Amino acid sequence: MPAIVIVGAQWGDEGKGKATDHLGSRVDYVVKFNGGNNAGHTVVIGDEKYALHLLPSGILTPGCTPVIGNGVVVDLEVLFREIDGLEARGTDTSRLKVSSNAHVIADYNRTLDKVAERFLGSRKIGTTGRGIGPTYADKMNRIGIRIQDLFDEKILTQKVEGALELKGQVLTKVYNRRAPSVDQTVEELLAHADRLAPYVCDTTLLLGQALDRGETVLLEAGQATLLDVDHGTYPFVTSSSATAGGACTGSGIPPTRIDQVIAIVKAYTTRVGEGPFPTELHDESGDFLRNTGFEFGTTTGRPRRCGWYDAVIARYAARVNGVTDFVLTKLDVLTGLEEIPVCVAYDVDGERYEEMPANQSAFHHAVPIYEYFPGWSEDISGARTLEDLPANARAYVEALEGMSGARMSVVGVGPEREQAVVLHPLR
Ligand code: IMP
Repeated sequence: MPAIVIVGAQWGDEGKGKATDHLGSRVDYVVKFNGGNNAGHTVVIGDEKYALHLLPSGILTPGCTPVIGNGVVVDLEVLFREIDGLEARGTDTSRLKVSSNAHVIADYNRTLDKVAERFLGSRKIGTTGRGIGPTYADKMNRIGIRIQDLFDEKILTQKVEGALELKGQVLTKVYNRRAPSVDQTVEELLAHADRLAPYVCDTTLLLGQALDRGETVLLEAGQATLLDVDHGTYPFVTSSSATAGGACTGSGIPPTRIDQVIAIVKAYTTRVGEGPFPTELHDESGDFLRNTGFEFGTTTGRPRRCGWYDAVIARYAARVNGVTDFVLTKLDVLTGLEEIPVCVAYDVDGERYEEMPANQSAFHHAVPIYEYFPGWSEDISGARTLEDLPANARAYVEALEGMSGARMSVVGVGPEREQAVVLHPLR
């Protein structure tokens, strides 16, 4: 006891850092269990700002052990760039643990990610171009390269040969690109092996023993529910399991040991990349949310698509993740709006849907049915209790709670760690 899972309820960028902050120093291990350097979070500690893409946020908390689980795909170049960046600022990174079963992003997969997107043209996914999808595809095709392969040159060479046999042909014959040689790829991967060795271990055993000792393990999802390869808006998703179930497969912690599932949900909705988004705004309200909420990607700098809160999605996230607590973020961004629409159901060709349509075409055609809530103009950034909030802000939070399928435990009212209304302490 206890293992806690944190997931994003929408399409990512909900501000998971807020929940991590509220669990604070009580966490002994922070585990990244899916995705790779497609994620991006900015952590502000004092006057220092850290942009992390691959390392778990726990790397910045003294006494906490950050873990890269088996479900992650690792770009070694990025890993050591982030480690070097932190070390240069005096952060000790020696506690990091990396699963020997995690997969490695090879150079050919970064290339394939980018050329495949170009090839798809108008059907593109809008990926981050970091090689994530092709690396997970290799894992499923059983031609992936794992961290442990880096410590046996003979095996590594065999595996790279196996992977390049087909992928080299695809690169040259389909995409008209130069394929790297086996030697070149092996050399690039081996370049990091010696430095990596001290970090590598059986993280499943490590975490199981930590739980046996009563230590707290926080499993932090990359991306979010609607980007999950199974439960998201497929094919406009990432290639990993970003929901609570993925926390088990991506870390080796069994479902029976998970105590709490916290979902982060923004007071409005954003999405980057392509794909359906029923409450998306193409007018000045969308610009207002984007500019007021600084909705530009941490990883790619892309402006995020913005829209109103969608309670159908929140209910869906509550259901597929087994959410025990919601952390509602960025409520302060809505300050100043006269009226705030909330999507309560969809109209699909004249039929009302209270729940997420099971069919992709229905979701593509979903037209939001809105309920309108009166806004507030008071500055709420200093609010710390529900009573501190203006009546209309309180009513908005209570209405969202009623329609979203789990309690709202924390409400973010500003970017700083302490800028939050705590209704139910997370621990
Ligand atoms: P990939 O993960 O690079 O393959 O991209 C697949 C989809 O997931 C694209 O729409 C990306 O924009 C989206 N995506 C990946 N990581 C994140 C994230 O951390 N936040 C938001 N969207 C993401």
